Amino acid sequence: MQSPNSILITGASSGIGEALALAYAVPGRQLWLTGRDSARLAAVADAARAKGARVTAAALDVLDRQALGDWIRAADDGVPIDLAIANAGISGGTGGGDGLSGETEEQARRILAVNIEGVLNTIHPLIPRMVARKRGQLALMSSLAAFRGMPGAPAYCASKAAVRSYGEGLRGELMGQGVQVTVICPGFVRSRMTAVNTFPMPFLMDADRAARIVVQGLAANRARIAFPWPTYAVSWLLGVLPPSWTDALLAQAPRKA
Ligand SMILES: NC(=O)c1ccc[n+]([C@@H]2O[C@H](COP(=O)([O-])OP(=O)(O)OC[C@H]3O[C@@H](n4cnc5c(N)ncnc54)[C@H](OP(=O)(O)O)[C@@H]3O)[C@@H](O)[C@H]2O)c1
Repeated sequence: MQSPNSILITGASSGIGEALALAYAVPGRQLWLTGRDSARLAAVADAARAKGARVTAAALDVLDRQALGDWIRAADDGVPIDLAIANAGISGGTGGGDGLSGETEEQARRILAVNIEGVLNTIHPLIPRMVARKRGQLALMSSLAAFRGMPGAPAYCASKAAVRSYGEGLRGELMGQGVQVTVICPGFVRSRMTAVNTFPMPFLMDADRAARIVVQGLAANRARIAFPWPTYAVSWLLGVLPPSWTDALLAQAPRKA
């Protein structure tokens, strides 16, 4: 599809979402940005405006289905959204649990809710509108963690596996209706989410670089944008090997404190 003119990004107040907002900020383009932290979101909006974009920002929780849906529909009434990136997400480290034992039950429930329902709440207000227009693009933020449940982050991996499958299925479902769907599976990217990790993160990359890869992949309407390739190869292999071969290895893998 031609370069998107109106773009919605959730989780734009930080990390990959912030980098995407700035990567897409060019004169004349309309950006709709959300996150929860108003101050950080305002700073990103100002930086995008400084690059010439028109920006409307609203602090919203992706779990507030009604408020988020109303805001998205109003935005779409204003300047029809060409591309929506459902990026907001949390992990055991940013999920606000007790921070002592990885994913507690409460953290696990919250991670599954934010990472899955948050995506649904973002894309579903737009699907009927994009189908009616026979154009539009949806990008769902998954992760390379989607390919194999990892000790230390079972809920996070499960949430990203759900998003990946959902996006892959939706792509086929909407293909004939003019709406493109892409699943994004990054490896380790520098952000508030990974800042809490004390273990070595292979091929850790800056959010700006990740954003450039995502922008290129979306422009090419790729089904899956998975990077960097060495981490992708290992994640993919861990997913296809019999669990009995990999359980012992993964039990030794480092995890969030
Ligand atoms: N960093 C990585 O290595 C990596 C790898 C693969 C996938 N991902 C995925 O990439 C996405 C962005 O993560 P990041 O690394 O950029 O982390 P981040 O810096 O912590 O950013 C997360 C963003 O999501 C927003 N968010 C979280 N919970 C929300 C909620 N309930 N309602 C609305 N917004 C909410 C945050 O908003 P506030 O800060 O304003 O609350 C923030 O803007 C996530 O889906 C993550 O799972 C990250």
